[in-house]
Amino acid sequence: MTHKFDTLAVHAGAEPDPVTGAVAPPIQLSTTFVHGNAEGLSYQRDDHPTQRRLETALATLEGGGRALAFASGMAAVAALLDTLQRGQRVVVPEDCYAGTRGYVTEVLPERGVEVTTVDTTDPDAVRGACADGVALLWVESPSNPRLRISDLAELAGIAHAHGARLACDNTFATPVLQRPLELGADVVMHSTTKYLGGHSDVLGGALVFARNDDFAEHVAARRLLTGAILSPFSAWLTLRGCRSLSARMALHCANARKVAGFLARHPAMERVNFPGLPDHPNHAVAARQMHDFGAMLSVELRGGHDAALAFARNTKIFTNATSLGGCESLIEHRASSEGAHSHSPPGLVRMSVGLEDADDLIADLAQALELP
Ligand SMILES: Cc1ncc(COP(=O)(O)O)c(C=O)c1O
Repeated sequence: MTHKFDTLAVHAGAEPDPVTGAVAPPIQLSTTFVHGNAEGLSYQRDDHPTQRRLETALATLEGGGRALAFASGMAAVAALLDTLQRGQRVVVPEDCYAGTRGYVTEVLPERGVEVTTVDTTDPDAVRGACADGVALLWVESPSNPRLRISDLAELAGIAHAHGARLACDNTFATPVLQRPLELGADVVMHSTTKYLGGHSDVLGGALVFARNDDFAEHVAARRLLTGAILSPFSAWLTLRGCRSLSARMALHCANARKVAGFLARHPAMERVNFPGLPDHPNHAVAARQMHDFGAMLSVELRGGHDAALAFARNTKIFTNATSLGGCESLIEHRASSEGAHSHSPPGLVRMSVGLEDADDLIADLAQALELP
């Protein structure tokens, strides 16, 4: 029997413990396992039962052949980018998480990997960037922090025409809203620290591969050598988050739509970056490839840097803090927290819309915009 997504989200990897009958998935803390055991387990840095459960859940949710969990989103980013060899090229988006940009601009060139940056919302520009050869096309959609949307099916076609892989950072959308592997991507990356964990209390990352092939096995073997696995407790918390993901995303999205509508009408705003707004430049692509528009948005204030800082400081329900995807709404002046690798406009404020009452959130933003 095939089940629908919401059913899979609750049950994948979360089957009752066959030994004790415990309904809630157990945490297994042992670092070592008796040789010759039926599960083929050996040592925690290689593989462990709680991480296995989470990886089953992640592969199921993304529709992949294999998932690997990592100690953080950046460990997952690095594990994938480190498969590139000297002389190979990676094409990366102009707008993406500052940590990813830091890795491709600081680390990869030291290893002789060519890096080309391009606007991935423009397929012709991507074709041009790939013309001289490419091994990996990296995309983040929606992107951080400008909420740009790239056409994943079209980018998969371009990557494959060049014999390259398409990797998609699906952190903002989650598999509830977007399944890149179904659109042709070869690998999905997550910072599970965000919506999948869902409660701002667990760091983690993941790669989900379309196929359980030699490439996935190579990355798994490197994870054993580099050691960036997820701890049992972190794997357990993340699996718990996955089980309520669908329900949380529905409320996140509904709240964000209301907040974006309010901000789009507010005279202090120069621009509201939210793919659900009909005048967003990539709205049509988002409507086609996403089930809903997510709960991340950013705004650019007419008053620039100072107005943006004041706005982020003046909210009372939205907490002025970095990160995203938890129950609580967060707000931050992005350039201030991105540091050296920031490309964010000085007047940009990013918001993660949480699970509070939407009217309370809107009232909070309204009062913050009135204060000096
Ligand atoms: C889109 C995106 N990708 C990757 C990361 C890195 O994840 P982590 O902080 O779990 O290392 C982040 C973190 O904010 C992110 O927003």
